[in-house]
Amino acid sequence: MPESPDKAYYVTTPIYYVTAAPSIGSAYTTVVGDVLTRWHRQRGERVWYLTGTDEHGQKVMRAAEANGQTPQAWTDHLVETAWKPVLSTIDVANDQFVRTTDADHTERVQEFWRCLQEGGDVYEGRYEGPYCVGCEEFKLPADLVTVGGVDSCSIHGTAVEMVSEANYFFSMSRYADKLLELYETRPGFVQPESARNEVIAFVKQGLEDLSISRSTFDWGIKVPWDESQVLYVWIDALLNYVTAAGYGTDPERFAGLWPADVHLVGKDILRFHAVIWPAMLMAAGLDVPHQVFAHGWLLVGGEKMSKSKATAIAPEVITDHFGSDAYRYYFAKTIAFGSDGSFSWEHMSAVYTSELANGLGNLASRVTAMVGKYFDGQLPAPAADGPAEKALAETLAATVERADAAIDRLAIHEAVTAVSDLISDINGYVTEQEPWQVAKDTSEEGRARLASILYAAADSLRAVAVLHNPVMPKTCATLWAALGADALGALVAQRVQETGQWGQLPAGVTLTKGQSLFPRLEAAEGVAE
Ligand code: MSP
Repeated sequence: MPESPDKAYYVTTPIYYVTAAPSIGSAYTTVVGDVLTRWHRQRGERVWYLTGTDEHGQKVMRAAEANGQTPQAWTDHLVETAWKPVLSTIDVANDQFVRTTDADHTERVQEFWRCLQEGGDVYEGRYEGPYCVGCEEFKLPADLVTVGGVDSCSIHGTAVEMVSEANYFFSMSRYADKLLELYETRPGFVQPESARNEVIAFVKQGLEDLSISRSTFDWGIKVPWDESQVLYVWIDALLNYVTAAGYGTDPERFAGLWPADVHLVGKDILRFHAVIWPAMLMAAGLDVPHQVFAHGWLLVGGEKMSKSKATAIAPEVITDHFGSDAYRYYFAKTIAFGSDGSFSWEHMSAVYTSELANGLGNLASRVTAMVGKYFDGQLPAPAADGPAEKALAETLAATVERADAAIDRLAIHEAVTAVSDLISDINGYVTEQEPWQVAKDTSEEGRARLASILYAAADSLRAVAVLHNPVMPKTCATLWAALGADALGALVAQRVQETGQWGQLPAGVTLTKGQSLFPRLEAAEGVAE
């Protein structure tokens, strides 16, 4: 089916299990997705950014039981008090929040599986085998490790449970060839390349049919043709990407969103998204997403940071100390998107001080202070550009291209690094041009030279305010205002593409020094800096 010309750039995060409050591990995808979608919005594209919560299944049910609550009361409470609020803690501008307990979602999921059953893709069978509740996954022998002589999950390190149940099955094996053809003909479908290779190797071994229902507990969506069973949590959860987009309820809206441009997922849930999900969509005759991109894990002591192992850190512990912009900057820049990474308080303090406070913060304060001191705060018109200004203008134009191209490859860290390199170049320019020395020359030429230097520095900072806005929206709004850039219109209306053009800041606007963008850190209680 040809795509609607008005289709939005549609990005999704995984929907998170509501077993506890969010950690920086689960917030990682949401932050990076937010940087990506804000960047696309600044290109002038229509964007849709979806996140939400995965509320059915044994994992959530057991968390609720352990807390003496019904699963519904438990998820209602945690979603409202923790999962939705964390989005403002980390300053995420999602367009929609989906819950799998939403009535709309459950009805559409039932409808979807009824269609597949009627189409002959579902049959009755018996599942016998290992299951990891932590992953909510039926495990293959190759997925298991032995811990203390017991078959265990390689991700969670906990014993798998043996399941033996009469279930319904989805004839997924039928789709193996079509899936291999998909990976072959659309190399961008699974990325990065290592993830693509892993998925191809997995499907080439042969696909088994998938058990799609459970009969030993009832926290889930009822199988529409057999109310004694509930649908397996993953085949309910994956459908959020289409039910939230209007599948089955609003065809016009659905055409304006689907297929998703990218599903951002952690590497632990790659197979669900790159194998099961497209097979389900193919069976239903729906388009598959453009891309599934698998990122790495935040590690602690070499292992995945996790709530169950109590190695998780709450995002607010970090934002309370460093602010949400520094948080976003740290995770978007210092971890290569697609690879594992880690967080440490010491590393984050070092990045904050060297790159943000001494880098961008100091540069903005030096430039605005000098315009205040030497030109009464009025941005002077530049005289003719010299070689240093021409070089800076070229660097600026190249930065925009470099960052924009990195975003297209989902190399988010490279895009942020390109902008932070530009800041170092502007800092270098100011240091080399020594405007404070030039200011001692009060001749007409001296004043003209001083005007050119300060104009070049301020106009470069104007570009930084646009380019860093997807990463640090609060700081960039402050910087924008300090540069008197309001005359250009709102920051959010500035297009990435035009940012690289030199000389956009109107001469004569008033620059203000204001408060420092990144204040000195107070020593955190009990934490060495
Ligand atoms: N509910 C499923 C996803 C269903 S999507 C249709 C699920 N939930 S989860 O809460 O366990 O994990 C959600 C996402 O958070 C996964 O992509 C997972 O990789 C990510 N992370 C959880 N801990 C993480 C780290 N320590 N580091 C990076 N991402 C991690 O799976």
